[in-house]
Amino acid sequence: MTVWKYNGALDRLQLSEGCEVEVAGHRLWHFDLESGPVPFEPPRFMFVDPPYSAGLARGYRTKAGVDGDSGRAVDFDLLLDRIMRAAGGAPVVMEGSVQPGAEDLMRAAFERAGYKVLGRVDITYGGKTGRAILVFGHLMPDGVKWPEIMRACLGQDDEVVPEIIMTALLAQGYLNGGDVVADPCTGRGLTPVTADRLGLKFVGTELSHGRLAVAVEKLAEQTGQPVTLQ
Ligand SMILES: C[S@@+](CC[C@H](N)C(=O)[O-])C[C@H]1O[C@@H](n2cnc3c(N)ncnc32)[C@H](O)[C@@H]1O
Repeated sequence: MTVWKYNGALDRLQLSEGCEVEVAGHRLWHFDLESGPVPFEPPRFMFVDPPYSAGLARGYRTKAGVDGDSGRAVDFDLLLDRIMRAAGGAPVVMEGSVQPGAEDLMRAAFERAGYKVLGRVDITYGGKTGRAILVFGHLMPDGVKWPEIMRACLGQDDEVVPEIIMTALLAQGYLNGGDVVADPCTGRGLTPVTADRLGLKFVGTELSHGRLAVAVEKLAEQTGQPVTLQ
């Protein structure tokens, strides 16, 4: 086990292949969702922004699309199925692109997992309208006022929607302090940083070492806690 302490990015965090990282009770893994089931238990809630949009932009429908970030081939259906399996029945809000076919992929993945699609809203992305949406999915009725949450997200920027949703879930009593929120496509860490600020715990996976390191460094800076690496 290695312990790393954030010091203003002078000493960059080095992550090994397949590492598990813990900081302030949040747990993150360097992990490829296409390789198998995630290393964490089902959360109370999942927010996820999967990487399919770039592939769709190049005209791919499902298999062998190309992720614009990593440049590698992506089996979008498999990826989305792994994400839904990781949710394990918890409500999921999935961010996606408005490019043709993207919403169909999301809806189909929800339905394959037995989820009901509750609705969708347009949000902005990088300040631009018409580029991103949120799709809400649920397995069983739970008393959450989803229409209220969807209205609160409408037209908001993707940088703030996780906060809007989690704040509402806390206010409605579905989430309580210390509950676990997951994001299997952690990226540079918007979901974990938001979860931490709201007193929630985070579990998540990410394929890119560089992005995972950014997410972990942000969490270390925000919490002031050391990072343990396995
Ligand atoms: C749209 S980004 C997520 C952005 C994130 N919400 C943030 O705050 O940066 C999608 C992420 O999924 C990751 N990803 C792509 N394929 C993956 C895979 N097979 N397993 C795990 N993560 C993957 C990408 O590296 C990328 O960081």
